[in-house]
Formats: sequence, C-alpha cells, structure tokens
Amino acid sequence: MTMLTAYDIIMKKRRCSPLSDEEIRFMVNGFTEGVIPDSQMSALLMAICFNGMTEEETASLTLAMMESGEMLTPSKQLVRSCVDKHSTGGVGDKTTLIAAPICAACGLYVPKMSGRGLGHTGGTIDKLEAIPGMNTSLDYDKFIDVVRKAGFASAAQTGTLVPADKKIYALRNMTATVDSIPLISSSIMSKKLATGAEAIVLDVKTGDGAFMKTVSDSEKLARSMMSAAKALGRRCTAVITDMNKPLGKAVGNGIEVIEAAEALKGRCPADLYDVSVTLAAQMLMLGGAGEYEECVMLAKDAIESGKAFHALEKTVELQGGDKNALTDYSLLGVPKFSYEVRSSESGYISRISCEKTGILSMKLGAGRQNKDDPIDPTAGILFDKTVGDYAEKGSLLGTLYTSSECDLKAPGEEFAQLFSFSAEPPAVSSAVLKIISD
Ligand code: URA
Repeated sequence: MTMLTAYDIIMKKRRCSPLSDEEIRFMVNGFTEGVIPDSQMSALLMAICFNGMTEEETASLTLAMMESGEMLTPSKQLVRSCVDKHSTGGVGDKTTLIAAPICAACGLYVPKMSGRGLGHTGGTIDKLEAIPGMNTSLDYDKFIDVVRKAGFASAAQTGTLVPADKKIYALRNMTATVDSIPLISSSIMSKKLATGAEAIVLDVKTGDGAFMKTVSDSEKLARSMMSAAKALGRRCTAVITDMNKPLGKAVGNGIEVIEAAEALKGRCPADLYDVSVTLAAQMLMLGGAGEYEECVMLAKDAIESGKAFHALEKTVELQGGDKNALTDYSLLGVPKFSYEVRSSESGYISRISCEKTGILSMKLGAGRQNKDDPIDPTAGILFDKTVGDYAEKGSLLGTLYTSSECDLKAPGEEFAQLFSFSAEPPAVSSAVLKIISD
C-alpha cells in the first residue's frame, strides 16, 4: 500500500487528475487536526479553483467535511416530515422568515440552523435577534422542543458542527479561493447535511449581489449541491432567483422583520412574494404535501388565512421573543436618525446596484465587515421605488436609517448613485428564474 502524502495529492490535483475519496479525506482530516499546514491546504484549494472537481470528488469533499464534527439527527426525534431551505446569500433576503412559517402552518417541521450576515449579505439570525428577547442560541433539546410545538425553530449554528469548514473557509478568505463552485458547494452542503436535513430546497441567488454572477454558474452550483445531497440519499431541489436588485424593499434587520411580518399579513412586494411562495411550495412538495401546483395554493392559503403569521408568532414566543413586536413595530427599536433621498432626475428606474446596496446597509450598521462586529438592529434602508417604477425629479427614492452618530449626507449620496434611469420602461421579469428538480 502506498503512503499518502499531501505533496503527491496537491501534485495530482495540479495535473488535473481526480482525487480519490481516501485522498480527499486525508487532506480534510489532516488539515482539521492541524497535521497538514496552511501552506499545503492553500495549494490544494488553489489547484481546485483552477482545475475544478468532478461530482464524485465534490461529494467526497462534502462528506469528509460533514463528518469532521458533530452530526445532528432531528428527524429521529420528530415524527413529521422535516424540510430545510438554504439561500446562498443575498441582499434583502428575508424569505426564511416567510417560507418557514408557511410550511409550519401547513404541518411540516422546519428545524432551521442559520448563519449570521457577513459583508454585503445579511443573515437570518441577525434579523431574528432584532426582536426583543429572541434567543437563537438554543441547546439541541430546546431546539427540538420549539420545532415540535411551533413547527419552525431557528437557531444559530454551533461551532461543533463541521469544524473543517470553519478552518477551510478562513483559509479560502485569505487565499482568494472563495469563488470556486466545488468549494462553495461542499462548504454549504456539509453544514446542511450535518444538521440532519432530509429534504433541502436551495435558493441559489444569481446576479450582481450574489456569489454567482450568471444564471449558468448558478445552475452549475445548484447541480453540484444537489448531487452532493443525492449522494447521501437526501431529497433536494433548487430555485435560481434574481439578485440583480435587492429582494423586496427593506434591507437591514429590524426593518426586514417588519417586511416579513407584513408579507405574512398579505402585504408583500411582488418579487419577495414570488420567491417566498415558490420556496415554500418546493419545501411543501419535498415534505410530501402534494404536487407542486397544489403546494403553491397551500402556501398562498397559509398567508391569506393568517395561519403562517401565527406560526411565526408562536416560534418567536417559544424562543423568548416579544411577539407583539411583529405587530407594534416600534418595539423593534426606533432608529435615532433617518435620511430621505430624492431623485435628481425623472425617468424609469432601470437598475439598482445590489452589492453596493448591501455594502451601504453594512456601513449604516446593519451588517458586519468582520465577523465579530456588532450589529445595529435599527439600521438599514427602505426603498420607496424599485426597478420598473417611474420616478419624478424630487420624488422619494428611499430612506436610510441608523442609530449611530453620523452625518447621513455622504451615505445619502451613495444611495442616490445606486439607481440607473432610462427613458423607456425596462423589461421586468420574475425574480424566480428557474426551478431545478431533476
Ligand atoms: N456560504 C458558505 O457557507 N460557504 C461558502 O463557501 C459560500 C457561502
């Protein structure tokens, strides 16, 4: 038997030969345990970036990472169908706060482990923590108890899950190896699979505010994640959704909780409604609630009947949050400062720069540049106009909010720069670009 060495494995990948399951495990385990140094893991990551990985290699990498730490099995304690969703990260994406209560109201269980926001993208945990008293650091028994009672629980992912990803992701950040499809796919899916998700709906964002800038790359990422899920016998579908403009009209934390609560009360911007109902219907379908079209009707009914809103209230209450904040929004905290931005020209809004919106929201205090930065739950942006709307010169484009002492004039100018105008109405298509189920 030949002895494996990191050097030979790096060389093999550099020469474009596919790595075996054993070789991939050797690298992942060795690096996680501190036996393989950063230099050799960095070289392998770069070789993967240049040469890619086969489906089999990506599945092996995902499994090796998944098995590097604790693995949860919520479905063993929960009798009903458990369904999860994952978004690859966007701006204004509060769909979990809408789709998960819809599924809970329709009788599914959604045990959801989520992350915090970083850089220009937001995170579900930060949004939920804008609700006074809301506890997202649930121990496992409490997490399962909330799922049993409310159908949906949302907890911050603990450090014991997938330690390999923690180390590899930090190295990827330092070595310009983040945007590689097999590396993103294995990073996301190892965490999803370690939390015991039996059926997963992936919301793969595409466009200027997303990791993947084109539909074709998003589809490749979706298929790579689906194949890793299927290799483990988990049901998985993917929805490719538009991230060339922020989703909905609110970007921030408290402000996105308001938009989600309003959506569940039947008042929702069209793009957010389409994406949320599509994701919920896909989750319901994977959970066995019926054919896709039936599930769309179930999702819409759950909103119209108010059942989905009550499901969210129940989750919030059971996690220690003040459910009244979902109705009396002043309980979410009132920002100390606001700044209205008006249009300097007349015309149709043809584009709103999405990544720059996320960066501006982060600068206002709603996001983190570094992973331990504090969050201002009252900070954010509320758009008054969106792509396709006509703006008269002097009309309101949106409002910036923050509770940090700062002059909002410069951010206001940055906000105005996010908009592009055209004389003719631009083509506006659905935010749901593609559903991949095979
Ligand atoms: N999110 C993750 O968890 N990992 C990646 O690599 C990219 C996005």
